[in-house]
Amino acid sequence: MQEAREMRILLVIGGGIAAYKASELVRLIRRDGGSVTCVLTEAGSRFVTPLTLAALSENQVHTTLWDLKNEVEMGHIRLSREADLVVVCPATADLMARMATGMANDLATTLLLATDKPVLAVPAMNVRMWLHPATQANLATLRSRGVTVMDPDEGAMACGEFGPGRLPEPEAILAQIRAMLAPIRPLSGRHVVITAGPTHEPIDPVRYIANRSSGQQGFALAAAAAAAGARVTLIAGPVHLPSPPGVERVDVETAVQMAAAVDAALPCDVAIMVAAVADWRVADAAGRKRKKDGTGQVAPLDLVENPDILAGLGHAAHKPQLLIGFAAETDDVIAHATAKLARKGADWIIANDVSGDVMGGTNNTVHIVSAVGVESLPRMAKTAVAEVLIAKVVDALA
Ligand code: CTP
Repeated sequence: MQEAREMRILLVIGGGIAAYKASELVRLIRRDGGSVTCVLTEAGSRFVTPLTLAALSENQVHTTLWDLKNEVEMGHIRLSREADLVVVCPATADLMARMATGMANDLATTLLLATDKPVLAVPAMNVRMWLHPATQANLATLRSRGVTVMDPDEGAMACGEFGPGRLPEPEAILAQIRAMLAPIRPLSGRHVVITAGPTHEPIDPVRYIANRSSGQQGFALAAAAAAAGARVTLIAGPVHLPSPPGVERVDVETAVQMAAAVDAALPCDVAIMVAAVADWRVADAAGRKRKKDGTGQVAPLDLVENPDILAGLGHAAHKPQLLIGFAAETDDVIAHATAKLARKGADWIIANDVSGDVMGGTNNTVHIVSAVGVESLPRMAKTAVAEVLIAKVVDALA
């Protein structure tokens, strides 16, 4: 089973004897399910080799700004864009001084100047270097700019002296990383099951009953939930959409298969049933192609009702903590949605008017119908609707 989208750490390793402990930090982050991209300063590479870090992180290690290929891609910008958090460990006196003055004379300081991600600095240095007013002033500057700086440990140091300046234990650094990431991964530890797209109900081997659902809204919700740290199972009907990153996708064709896939994915904390599930399937879907019989008579299709997946969850003993349905309507949108809320046992119904260009389009106007009333959102991109709804899910679970 796939884990929630892993935390992505960009680890800048400065040049100090404590650099060897950065290798241990890399190992711990990996064990925690996170990914690490290491950037070594010139001095850092004297203490720990790129090869060691590449092996431990199972990732490419970056050492220079002048890697042409990376700079064509604006490598230093990309590195930080792809991270959730930048960790500087060990943050040496020199590296902190260069950060504080805004220098950009190597890859590490350039990306630290360019990043818009939270930064954690973990200092390690000789006790007198740590206590020097210059270092303390740099430290105050960095903190005033929003950099989180851990306090070094106190104790015997590699240089034979005693006092504050030791690198905190890697376990403590990992705990700090987790604490800093918690607010931007508010669904961490939660399992979200989402259905999306249409279902296809076979009539015979070449024909099926379908609908116009594109799957975009469900896929956007899956992407937003995964970005918020949830483990996401996305159960998709036949659609032409790429899987959002970090999402476990189960492809199905029919309503019966979708119901079974939802069942197999349980338990979950949140279920969001976005799929436009066909209400009926053909009772006797022929194993052979249906033929005209030459009499001009049309053989009727015998339909049976499909299982209602949402209502099944709404009335189940293991009902998710938050159960959300969608209602695509062409008239009396709120009234129909309110009736579905009660009938299906959902906590929220996200109602939308599909008489226009919503199905297959990129925008959506939705109304959140719940026991407390109706909240209407303005027309916006389906990706934006997803962001808003996932933020509301986070609030509801809190
Ligand atoms: N749904 C479901 N299983 C079904 C039918 C619908 O899980 N067999 C879910 C949809 O994914 C959606 C909600 O129920 O979240 C409402 O779907 P909709 O098709 O609007 O509801 P129906 O019960 O089919 O009502 P209608 O008579 O309007 O078709």
